[in-house]
Amino acid sequence: MSELVDLKVKEHQDLFPMLGTDYVEFYVGDAKKAAYYWMRTMGFQPLAYSGLETGNQDTVSYVLRQGKITIVLTGSYHPDTEVAEHVKRHGDGVKVYAITVEDARQAFAVTTERGAKPFMEPRVLRDDHGEVVLSGIYTYGETVHIFVERKNYEGIFMPGFELWDPPFRFPEMGFKYVDHAVGNVEEGKMVEWARFYENVMGFFNLLTFDDKDISTEYTALMSKVMSNGNGWIKFPINEPAPGLKKSQIQEYLEFYGGPGCQHLALATDNIIETITAMRENGMEFLEVPDTYYETLEARVGKIDEDIEDLRRLKILVDRDEYGYLLQLFTKPIQDRPTFFIEVIQRKGAKSFGKGNFKALFEAIEREQARRGTL
Ligand code: FE2
Repeated sequence: MSELVDLKVKEHQDLFPMLGTDYVEFYVGDAKKAAYYWMRTMGFQPLAYSGLETGNQDTVSYVLRQGKITIVLTGSYHPDTEVAEHVKRHGDGVKVYAITVEDARQAFAVTTERGAKPFMEPRVLRDDHGEVVLSGIYTYGETVHIFVERKNYEGIFMPGFELWDPPFRFPEMGFKYVDHAVGNVEEGKMVEWARFYENVMGFFNLLTFDDKDISTEYTALMSKVMSNGNGWIKFPINEPAPGLKKSQIQEYLEFYGGPGCQHLALATDNIIETITAMRENGMEFLEVPDTYYETLEARVGKIDEDIEDLRRLKILVDRDEYGYLLQLFTKPIQDRPTFFIEVIQRKGAKSFGKGNFKALFEAIEREQARRGTL
């Protein structure tokens, strides 16, 4: 059964200094339209651009920001780029989870020495604003971690990018930081990838869920939450567990063509305002049955929010020993039923909404049944 490691007791040191999430990059079929979607439905602000006009002959990237969250959306001008190949195999999806480090050369040396497969040898990018050092390693599937050393850089994003300042903008929606990023891996591979994060990256196992924690009549999964030392970067790893019907993780693996990032949890400090704005601007969410709210107060006790607001917006609530959290999950945000967004507001809670898994999975199964993939 699950057990949350007490962070105060578990004083964990990183193998090399990790300063947080730097950016998350998606490879997409059409970066221009994807950028508009992230602005319109989630309130991201335009920041930087790279493409033909900046001398980039092969790929085009739009960089968006809100709070501490930086999203890069990259498309391809030609069929023979790594980006185009990736999109052909996986559809739109997360390629890069970038981590800000003190020293990108050190991060590369430490992780590859410990067995990581190299993705990018350390390289220095320079412009008038200074220099950025990048290096990268593979994680599950074709997903990579890029280590970004930007302490000697004062530009808007990175050399090769120019300011992107379009005349249209949509208001921010309250997003502050990336809370966690979840990976789906094949059945039997969860422990292997948890060990990768332990041995290669120096993370520790914050929490484990087995199929008794996370199962419904039809589907089951297991999950291990890996965290870096200071707790700023958290990567839960899911694998499908056998159920009566097809697990949502299995559905992901089939449509994505292998392991990959299942969802990003983005934190807000006012989930009611955030979800209201997202719904008004066209984001679609998983349906939560009204019956969920009938037992809510009995299950989670007193909360600051009005239950009627939560019922109207279909926001989920869960409590652990430290406090409570509010969360809600979007439907997949691209054609394939793969990647989605979690919106989360933490009010003390350090866990991941275990009490909501059953309600959530039943909602996902209703969607799977409609897709004919259950
Ligand atoms: Fe999550």
